[in-house]
Order: sequence, then C-alpha cells, then structure tokens
Amino acid sequence: MPLVSMGPMLRRARADGYGIAAYNMIDFNSAKSIISGAAELSAPVIVQVSVKTVKHWGYAHVATWVRMLAEDAPVPVALHLDHCTDIDVIRRCIDAGWTSVMFDGSALPFAENLEKSSLVYGLTETAGVGLEAEIGAIGGVEDDKVVNDDQSRLADYDECLRFVAAMPNLAVFAPAIGTAHGFYKGEAKIAYDLLERITKAIDTPIALHGGTGLTDEQFTRCISLGCGKVNISTMHKRLFIDGFVGLKAERPKLEEPLPFLAAQHDAMKGDVMACIRTFGSAGRAAEAAHAA
Ligand code: 13P
Repeated sequence: MPLVSMGPMLRRARADGYGIAAYNMIDFNSAKSIISGAAELSAPVIVQVSVKTVKHWGYAHVATWVRMLAEDAPVPVALHLDHCTDIDVIRRCIDAGWTSVMFDGSALPFAENLEKSSLVYGLTETAGVGLEAEIGAIGGVEDDKVVNDDQSRLADYDECLRFVAAMPNLAVFAPAIGTAHGFYKGEAKIAYDLLERITKAIDTPIALHGGTGLTDEQFTRCISLGCGKVNISTMHKRLFIDGFVGLKAERPKLEEPLPFLAAQHDAMKGDVMACIRTFGSAGRAAEAAHAA
C-alpha cells in the first residue's frame, strides 16, 4: 500500500482500545523487519526514524526505502520522524515524503513550546501530514537528547489541555507520564492517574514513549487508557546488534554476509511480532487502512 498518515489510524486504534507499534528503524534491513513483522500479523505499523539516522542515510534514501517496502506490504505503514527540535529538518522530511513528524519542544518553557508546536502544526496541516508534539520531559537517552532523572518532569494536566486545544487535529500527543527512553534501572513508575485524567478530557491518541522494558501489564494498561502509539527503539537496536554478533559467536567460521543479515532481520522481526500481539493490533490492518 502507499504510505499512510498515522493520525486517522491512531484515532481508530484509540477508539478500539489497541496500540500501534512505532519502531525506530536503523537501516533497510531493520525497516524490512518492522514491515514484514507487521505484514505477517496483518497489523498497521509506524516506522519512525531518529534525526541522527535520517542525517546518516539521507532524506531521500530513507523515504525511498520505507515507501518501497510499504508499497509491497498489504498493511498500512506510516513513515514518522521521531523527536525533532529543528523545523528545517521537519520541512525537509515533509518534502521527502514523510507522512508524519514529531516536533519536540519539551525542553522549552511551556509558552514557547506551544508557540513553536503551533507553528509546526500549521506546516503539517498545510502539507497534509500528521504531527506529534510533547510536553513535560521524558527521561532517558534518545538520539542526542539526554534527560537525567532529576530533569525528567511529568506533564502538567492544565498545560496538556491548553496544548491540545490549540492543535485540534494533532495526530498524537506525547505527555510525559513517567516512562523513559532506554533500559529501565528499576520498574518504570507510570503516572496512570495523570494519564487517565488526560485521556478523560481529550480524545487525541496518546504516544507511549520509552516502550523498551515495560511489562505486558504496563503496556496493556496504558493502551486501555488511551495510548494508541507505542514507541520501541532501544530493544530494536539491541537486537540489531545481537542478531548479527550472535550468529558470529555461534558460527565463527562463517564468512558469507547474507546469513548474518537474515539472523539480524529475524531477531528484530520476532520482537516486532511479539509487541504487535501484546498491543492488540494483530489483524487490524484492514480497519486501519480504512480509517487512513
Ligand atoms: P525506548 O528506546 O525506550 O524503546 O523508547 C523509544 C521511544 O520512545 C522513541 O521516541
């Protein structure tokens, strides 16, 4: 299918109580593993890309890989830009064919974050692509952004309402609710009460950041409270490396590269499929495609 915009399918997911997996791709093999895992389970999926990864490969290459893979797949696929603070990068992604982008103004004071997010909202509405925007400060390390424990901050409820009211067609809203990027040191302390208050007041789908290391119970509880988009990056990166080096450890004399790519692909795909099952989006491709 042609690439789709994520907003309508996320609204459908939230309304029907399931989550759509949003995986951070690394290269072509990783994007292929994400899309083939989704295709095998007839699930909608979001392939997202960090700014660093976009700059590493180039805008056109990333967009072309994902578009080609999506066109060959019988499931809806959105191409999304993850945490981006640079409006110029956002413009270039839109021009290259991304179907949604995230503007991350969470490090700014609220008024400035709202002002800049609204400006990007104007751009994305004009271009017909979806926007994700964040408030509060999600802890951990994502791309070049490091938020230490003492800097992480839950989203303020009143600010959430003002933020979303200013952008009624926001594809997905990312309030900090206690999850963090990277591996958790202990169990994640999720502010379910805050999440529930927010989702009772607004019907915009919520993005659950920091998916790596959450338990199935945490995933399903957050999804049942309105998290339509579930982000996974760190585990995918881990399997990208482990899938490759694991085979080398098993068969040190193997010199042919393709089996390594296959092992890497299968390790990543296995995790994609496990998450899709947990998030409840298996078998939802047709309804998501219809919504999109
Ligand atoms: P993890 O790296 O913890 O899986 O988080 C991914 C994420 O939220 C990307 O924005």
